Amino acid sequence: MRIGLLTSGGDCPGLNAVIRSAVLHGIKSFSDEFVGFRGGWRGLIEGDYIELSRQDVRGLARVGGTILGTSRTHPYNHPGGGPEKIAAQLKRHGIDAVIAIGGEGTLAGARRLAEDGIPVVGVPKTIDNDLRGTDYTFGFDTAISIATDAMDRLRTTGESHHRAMVAEVMGRHVGWIALHSGMAAGAHAILIPEQRITIDQVCEWAEQVHSRGRSPLIVVAEGFIPEGYDAAMAGKGQEDDGRPRLGGIGEWVTHQIEARTGIETRNTTLGHIQRGGNPTGYDRVLATRFGIKALDLVHEEAWGHMAALLGTEIATVNLAEALDGLKSVPPERYAEAQILFGR
Ligand code: F6P
Repeated sequence: MRIGLLTSGGDCPGLNAVIRSAVLHGIKSFSDEFVGFRGGWRGLIEGDYIELSRQDVRGLARVGGTILGTSRTHPYNHPGGGPEKIAAQLKRHGIDAVIAIGGEGTLAGARRLAEDGIPVVGVPKTIDNDLRGTDYTFGFDTAISIATDAMDRLRTTGESHHRAMVAEVMGRHVGWIALHSGMAAGAHAILIPEQRITIDQVCEWAEQVHSRGRSPLIVVAEGFIPEGYDAAMAGKGQEDDGRPRLGGIGEWVTHQIEARTGIETRNTTLGHIQRGGNPTGYDRVLATRFGIKALDLVHEEAWGHMAALLGTEIATVNLAEALDGLKSVPPERYAEAQILFGR
């Protein structure tokens, strides 16, 4: 078969490991040929691709980012998009199937295209870990590792000055990155979108910690909205695709703690550092397994399905199942973390 790969949406450590394992498995097991579409769906729509040989994917498991580039191009809304034109492009270039590697938006596009007759399978990726249908996505472990290391550093400088330190992490509308990195770093409070906490409560936790001579570490997810407020505090407008642009809540929480408690407080927004650099060993393995599975799905003609991690097994999941709402942090996971907040 001649198979096209694309990476779409925000980049994430492990994308290259998927590309490598799918290509190697296809060449070694089935004598497949591969192309890589540049810039996500745009490359498929415009016929902009590169041939991918065994040499092209050598050593890629450890490399962050994506060698194909990515974009947030929509496969239907972009000029030249839609199933008829995409089918014509595939035919023109002799491509039999597409492996789309991406998050919620990408997989929603893949699902719709599969329903419209395009031979496409998915691979889930996101540092946010917000996709249903898979226990974990690659990129998440790397983001946790980076955020935890950053918080360890914040703690030593915070302790030296006896300051409160606020760390804002990514995650969009779920709190997985905040919960895991906060727990790993021993944070004194973790604020996530799923839980409405008042700023008074946050200040109380900070004061409890400060009064026993420690430097409070407060981890806040970018999508957190405090109890009593209606919307994201930063008001940064919208992305091109209409989604709200998040980020800025850490500054607000920092100001509130300092103003209300008098504790000197500093904010650090980790931002895209969480998505950069090389994947952890865990993410390399997960991404490699997903790439192998995706290639098998192509040969099974399991269009509209994706690779997923269920427990320790790599499974086949219908894209519809994966897209049935966000996978948010369950209340019991938050309650467990909360036992260690404040005092
Ligand atoms: O979905 C991954 C993610 O990093 C989110 O955590 C964050 O809100 C968003 O992407 C940032 O998007 P961009 O790279 O377009 O600024």
